[in-house]
Amino acid sequence: MSDADVTNHPQDAPSAAGGMAPSSAPGSEGDGMSRRGFLQACTAGAALTVVAAGGYVAFRFLQPDGSLDVPADFVLGRAQDIPQGRTFVAQAKLFVERQGARVRCISAVCTHLGCLVTWDEGIQRYRCPCHGSDFLPDGTNPTGPASKPLPFFRLSRDADGRVIAHRRQTLVCDGNEWLDLG
Ligand code: FES
Repeated sequence: MSDADVTNHPQDAPSAAGGMAPSSAPGSEGDGMSRRGFLQACTAGAALTVVAAGGYVAFRFLQPDGSLDVPADFVLGRAQDIPQGRTFVAQAKLFVERQGARVRCISAVCTHLGCLVTWDEGIQRYRCPCHGSDFLPDGTNPTGPASKPLPFFRLSRDADGRVIAHRRQTLVCDGNEWLDLG
C-alpha cells in the first residue's frame, strides 16, 4: 500500500478523474481555511463584544456622580413647591435643603464608589450604606473610605420661576452655594 492510499480524509485522496486540484474541491483545504477564517472572525468579534460590554459596565460602576442616569439640568420646581428642611430627590440623586427663603442642593452620590447616601437626622450627617463613609451637612467627609466631599450643585431660576439644579456645575460649601428665593 502506497502513502497515497493511507488517509483518513476523503478529500485528501487522489481524484479518480485525476484532473481536479484538491484546493478547488468541496471540502478542500481552501474551504477549510475559509471556515477557520470565519470562525476566527466570529471569535474575535465575540471577544471584542465581551471586552466592550465589560468596559461599559466598569465605566458605569466607576462613574462617580451617576451623571449618565440624570439630566445635566434638573427642574426642581417652583419656589413654593420646595419644602422647608432637607428633601431627597431620587430622580436627580440629590438633596435639596431649604432654610427660609434660601435653598441649596447637594449630591446624594457617595464620592467613594457611587452609592446613594441617606440623611441621618440623629447625627446630622449623610451616611453611605455601602462602606460607611459619613458626610457633614457642608459635604465634607470626616471618615473614609470616601476621599472627597459631596459637591453642591449650582442652582438657578428660569423665566417661569422654576428652580433648576445644574448637576455639571459643582460648588464648594462657602455660603455661595445658596440660592435666594426671595
Ligand atoms: S460607596 Fe460610599 S463608602 Fe463606598
